[in-house]
Amino acid sequence: MTVAEIFETMDYGPAPESSAEAMAWIDGHDGRFGLFVDGTFTEPGSSFDTRNPATGKTLAQVTQATPEDVTAAVAAARKAQPGWEKLGGPGRARILYALARIIQKQSRLFAVLETLDSGKPIREARDIDVSLVARHFYYHAGMAQIMEDELPGARALGVCGQVIPWNFPLLMLAWKVAPALAMGNTVVLKPAEWTPLTALAFADLAREAGLPKGVLNIVTGDGAVGEAVVGADVDKVAFTGSTEVGKAIRRATAGSGKALTLELGGKSPFIVFDDADLDSAVEGIVDAIWFNGGQVCCAGSRLIVQEGIAEDFHDRLRTRMAKLRVGDPLDKCIDMGAIVDPVQRDRIAAMVDGTTGQVHRGDAPEGCFYPPTLITGLDPADPLMQDEIFGPVLVGTTFRTPAEAVSLANNTRYGLAATVWTENVNLALDIAPKLASGIVWVNGTNMMDAAAGFGGVRESGFGREGGWEGLRAYVKGPEGKALKPVAPVAAPKEAKVTGLDRTAKLYVGGKQARPDGGYSRAVWSPKGALLGHVGLANRKDLRNAVEAARGAGAWSKTTGHQRAQILYYIGENLSARAGEFAARISDMTGATAKQAETEVAASVGRLFTWAAWADKYDGRAKGVPIRGVALAMNEPVGVIGQFAPDEMPLLGLVSVIAPAMAMGNRTVTVASTAFPLAATDFYQVLETSDVPGGVVNILTGDANELAAQMGGHMDVDSVWSFSSSDISATIEAESAHNLKRTWVNNGRARDWSVTDAHTFLAQATEVKTVWIPYGEG
Ligand code: NAI
Repeated sequence: MTVAEIFETMDYGPAPESSAEAMAWIDGHDGRFGLFVDGTFTEPGSSFDTRNPATGKTLAQVTQATPEDVTAAVAAARKAQPGWEKLGGPGRARILYALARIIQKQSRLFAVLETLDSGKPIREARDIDVSLVARHFYYHAGMAQIMEDELPGARALGVCGQVIPWNFPLLMLAWKVAPALAMGNTVVLKPAEWTPLTALAFADLAREAGLPKGVLNIVTGDGAVGEAVVGADVDKVAFTGSTEVGKAIRRATAGSGKALTLELGGKSPFIVFDDADLDSAVEGIVDAIWFNGGQVCCAGSRLIVQEGIAEDFHDRLRTRMAKLRVGDPLDKCIDMGAIVDPVQRDRIAAMVDGTTGQVHRGDAPEGCFYPPTLITGLDPADPLMQDEIFGPVLVGTTFRTPAEAVSLANNTRYGLAATVWTENVNLALDIAPKLASGIVWVNGTNMMDAAAGFGGVRESGFGREGGWEGLRAYVKGPEGKALKPVAPVAAPKEAKVTGLDRTAKLYVGGKQARPDGGYSRAVWSPKGALLGHVGLANRKDLRNAVEAARGAGAWSKTTGHQRAQILYYIGENLSARAGEFAARISDMTGATAKQAETEVAASVGRLFTWAAWADKYDGRAKGVPIRGVALAMNEPVGVIGQFAPDEMPLLGLVSVIAPAMAMGNRTVTVASTAFPLAATDFYQVLETSDVPGGVVNILTGDANELAAQMGGHMDVDSVWSFSSSDISATIEAESAHNLKRTWVNNGRARDWSVTDAHTFLAQATEVKTVWIPYGEG
């Protein structure tokens, strides 16, 4: 036999990992688990089986928590929270550090248990999941240590309800639990029903780290338990899972005041340019769609290849697919293990069966396995090109120009991750900002780290996990007082009408526009004088304003320097008319001349502050453990719908428009319902300050009438409400349509005399993490 022949005929021998230790841990609990509440396991209740999908054998019985169990877990977390927060950052850091050490010391146990329960290859559980879990606890131990210096005044939110999926059971626990605990919150976590074991093992072993009882509670069960956690007396809900359930949670928490982050599905593009290193791109695909059997929210599941190389690339891919080994996940030489459950396997099969595309399949054994699959020749609108399959199925199409690649990539309701493969760094860095996604990987894929934010835009959800940006989701600032509704001044019995009739129009696309409905209302001063009329905007006006804002996309591409110039200019022009604005405020609100002058001066100051910030909200280069960088880039959110506050008609208006503009957003701003004339005067200032048409659109009318439409509009990316009208719940509930971000006041007042720059900056931007490995091999 020649050496060449030996190489060609060589095969893998079996390399099984022992499951003895993991089974011993299960046996140590008699194969039956209660819930983990207040530092101890409860007696097992009504239970269900958790199985090894690779063999179909039952591993253990796990309790289906009742609503009362969830209430008890939340009560335990509530009781433990003040003490945990009071322990202080360094005190919590010691315990988080101990948790990280326990993960490392028991890494084999966790990895094997994860593989048994989820079917993922032991190689992945060991080298990726568990090592990232340890990294997350170390990183956040550090965050706890430096919290008091670096986040002065930040307080824990309280009790966090966390619901996680089955694809990365322990890793998702770490992503949720580590930052929550670091910031002084306590937790009630529900693992997925198919994969509860590593969460229970973690809770069991966490006691050895000295975690005080009640700080971490685990309730097991199905979606009904998840619903109970979401509906319980918690201060924050963090969810990872399907977009459909994410939408249900958005609706369920609307108006509750609970903070919410959602990390949902994806249909992430994997773009290969013709100058790419094709063999490395093929390996990238293996990591993108066959990692964890494609059961990955950020899986590169849509292959978009430049036309000239498509045939060659698909050939190489098919050759590589033939070498993928699918089978026993405990075997260390296996590339792809079992699908998590026969239900999921059947779901994948049902989606793929009957496709009109050309299907190429690798091999897979009988049982709960699905072969690596490539489907080409599909129309971009085909359901398989649009819907998340959540299995090892790659769908592919081709493109000719970079612009076409971007448009195909963005042709999705999701926006979690994207991969770009090219040897041309100029091209990669030109494409990255154009992709609608929270993460972009250049010449690599599925890179993750505790220091780098992970999360999406559009229907992939909102919020980030990891990095400084992830911490924001677990802290709060001071809470404002209850906001009293401010009603418009009622028409007097005896009207004082002087001067010429003046009706302020709406301001849409840089032009004054008559309200579509043809309705307007009189604005009276507290002294009974008619100050003018304002239009009552309706649905159509709002639609026009959103369209104008959409059309003004060029603003988002301008430089911070340019935006600063315009904001300074607005400030200058407002200052020139200060007396007139002060008189208007006095007339409308009854404020003293001095108070009104102060408000105008503060508004000019606020514009200057935001002009200052326009070119200073730098991103970061994250210290991730790869040879390369992960850049956190602060991008504009897009079109922000805003309900301006009533209590400070000019300062409030400026305080919401200016930060949005500074960060490159376009706004549709609904003026104070009670005191709208400050806004209609203000657009005259905009008209003389070089603000491009459509960047700021101002509507007058009743906030209550416009809330549902703004909240539900599919072309609005975020809605902020500071209105004194009770519209927070409506906006949040309607936002579930496209899962836009929301920032509502829940009836709480804000102190407009302070800028609170970092809160506004975070709300006015999306962090995009761009991973750029470097080096020559
Ligand atoms: P799912 O979204 O139903 O389950 C995720 C978690 O939410 C589980 O812990 C589940 O018990 C819980 N849950 C279910 N209904 C709930 C409710 N109404 N309120 C609160 N919690 C609830 O996901 P499922 O059914 O397991 O998978 C369906 C599809 O979702 C998959 O095929 C895949 O496309 C997608 N998915 C996406 C994930 C991601 O990481 N983005 C993770 C899991 C599933």
